[in-house]
Amino acid sequence: MNRTKPPEFKTQFAEDVFCGLTSYPKKLSSKFFYDEKGDQLFQQIMGLPEYYLTGKEYQILVRHREEIGEAFASLEGFDLIELGAGDGKKTKVLLRHFEEKNYDFKYLPVDISQNVLEQLSQSLETEIPGIEVEPQQGTYAQVLTKLSEYKNRKKIILFLGSNIGNLSQQEAINFLSGIKASMNSKDLFFMGVDQKKHPQVILDAYNDTSGITAAFNKNLLTRINRELEANFDLEAFMHWPLYDPETGIAKSYLVSKKEQVVQINDLNLEVHFQAWETIHTEISQKYDDTSISWLAEEAGLQIVKNWTDKEKCFKNYLFQTL
Ligand SMILES: C[S@@+](CC[C@H](N)C(=O)[O-])C[C@H]1O[C@@H](n2cnc3c(N)ncnc32)[C@H](O)[C@@H]1O
Repeated sequence: MNRTKPPEFKTQFAEDVFCGLTSYPKKLSSKFFYDEKGDQLFQQIMGLPEYYLTGKEYQILVRHREEIGEAFASLEGFDLIELGAGDGKKTKVLLRHFEEKNYDFKYLPVDISQNVLEQLSQSLETEIPGIEVEPQQGTYAQVLTKLSEYKNRKKIILFLGSNIGNLSQQEAINFLSGIKASMNSKDLFFMGVDQKKHPQVILDAYNDTSGITAAFNKNLLTRINRELEANFDLEAFMHWPLYDPETGIAKSYLVSKKEQVVQINDLNLEVHFQAWETIHTEISQKYDDTSISWLAEEAGLQIVKNWTDKEKCFKNYLFQTL
């Protein structure tokens, strides 16, 4: 790696790429997966036979929507705030149900990807036109600072798709503590969490045979090439997922297949890779009831109820403040 004067960063992406590729070991945040192409690839991943998470959570929401609705509903109505909403495919199960029940609510999806929010808003306009929707582009960190402003009526915060797994355990505690700090006594937090299970099933979910997950991971390099004028050769890197059943951590890497130097012109940076050096790109922490209870306790939250699928692959937990 060869640096001259540190550049002035034009975007958060530029700053994070600079910091991640000049640290050792190298890393890039998974939140940058989601540009237009990344959104499209993730929607393909959700349809893959190996990626069981979406189907299992969908099943839970369909089967238990009545009971979930009863837990959410309140006389004064509620604000339904979803963090990292994505395409909202599963949330629509609840939204349709709430509309049929004539619940008084507003849906506020939040996502780092403006592209996915626009797609979600458009699809809601045609599929469930009766509901009030107020999308907001931003990161979890940005939204956490504003959440407590929603205090005129009950708020329900949704965090589906095991998005919590993309945070390290300490980040997850900080995140949940932030959620708790924004909650009033009647507010609820509803979170979907992928559970520990046969290690091969988990590993396969991040290593599909059609190569879509590999393309999703490598798309980060394409994004750096395009947005920061770099020359990553995608063929010179390979996607490498791991799963450790002891810690419950699935990790994805991009591994350099040879010694190489990559130029990132916008950052005035040359990045040197040894042969087989890694870039850590994603963590997908798996949990069980014990570790979720521990997280909740650390954050000052209490589990009210949980719902699961037949094989107990995935769970949706409802929390209130302690
Ligand atoms: C794994 S997808 C899950 C989407 C949806 N919750 C689901 O269950 O299908 C993660 C979503 O969170 C968004 N996201 C990732 N990191 C984020 C961050 N730090 N702040 C806000 N949104 C983020 C992504 O753009 C993406 O739409």
